[in-house]
Amino acid sequence: MTVLERAGLAVLQKMEPETAHDWAIWALERGLAPLPRKVSSPRLKTRLGALELDNPLGLAAGFDKNARALPALMKAGFGFVEVGATTPRPQPGNPKPRLFRLPEDRGVINRFGFNNEGAEAMAAKLAARPAGGVLGLNLGANKDSEDRIPDYVAVLEACGAHVDFVTINVSSPNTEQLRDLQGKKALWALVTEVMQARAELPGTHRPPVFLKIAPDLKEESLADIAEVAAVSSLNGIIATNTTISRAGLAGRHRGETGGLSGAPLFERSTAVLARLHELTGGKLPLIGVGGIASAEDAFAKIAAGATALQLYSALVYEGLSLVPRILEGLDRKARDLGLDNIAEARGQEAHLWSAKFRD
Ligand code: FNR
Repeated sequence: MTVLERAGLAVLQKMEPETAHDWAIWALERGLAPLPRKVSSPRLKTRLGALELDNPLGLAAGFDKNARALPALMKAGFGFVEVGATTPRPQPGNPKPRLFRLPEDRGVINRFGFNNEGAEAMAAKLAARPAGGVLGLNLGANKDSEDRIPDYVAVLEACGAHVDFVTINVSSPNTEQLRDLQGKKALWALVTEVMQARAELPGTHRPPVFLKIAPDLKEESLADIAEVAAVSSLNGIIATNTTISRAGLAGRHRGETGGLSGAPLFERSTAVLARLHELTGGKLPLIGVGGIASAEDAFAKIAAGATALQLYSALVYEGLSLVPRILEGLDRKARDLGLDNIAEARGQEAHLWSAKFRD
């Protein structure tokens, strides 16, 4: 970490968390935030379905909800960047405060509730995206929509032409009943309609569709999801979103309502990932997310079954220089193990991690 980054983080961490986040985005948007060095290695090149990534580490959804800082984020060394969530109509989200740090736990609790500028504004931003890089959009539904499925379709229709993948987010705990869409029947209807809308996008561009799931699911739901994924030709699953669990926390904000992310989510999200790897027979690309804060964590997710990775919360505590530190560590690990590519480690320890998966 450079002196400048350390000083910047110290200032941000003294501010109210959402204000600090807004400042960080503001600085990135204006090119005022220092960007980390780039790490490039053939051992890190990753094939995520049809997508070719420079490295497996992506920026998770929710950091740049309105794609304000795209040029900087696309140059920050990530293998891919996901923006959003975006809903068809703009909405303010929940009342503030709605973002809390739990420094003792290296965790974060948020209950933003899909605050965003809506699909039309997002489409305009995405149309002006920097060339190159791999960029995805997190699709959400408006809080007050009676029928949520058409919302996902509408955002895909408005923005799909400008992105390299989209994510059906049915796992945010901050929009009431959203997670019910993970149930077999509802999920089947949702995925079918989104895949159909993708097939009908104008032109020939067909962005891969990923599904993002919650860490709080039981075995039966995971099995249903694996089945829907197989039958619907979904392109991958992102495991996982934030948790509603509050086990073993020390931070004074642990009682806040919302989704918990960061280090306390690592074990559960990795166990879910591993179980999903088994249930999909290793055939489906899986993106491992939840509590990654080091190269060891990143490698553990790959060994549990991840093809690619995402992170968010650790950046709050470590800054963007964490990205090259993780990538260099991963590259060293691959080299030390005698691997030509990090993908060779995929799923090697899925059985150990899935043994930790309990209903
Ligand atoms: C999120 N996350 C999230 N996920 C998503 O699919 N759509 C979203 O809009 C958001 N918004 C959001 C806001 C904030 C403040 C946080 C901390 C998280 C979840 C995020 O993408 C990721 O899945 C989890 O945070 C777990 O990863 P980390 O943070 O432990 O690395």
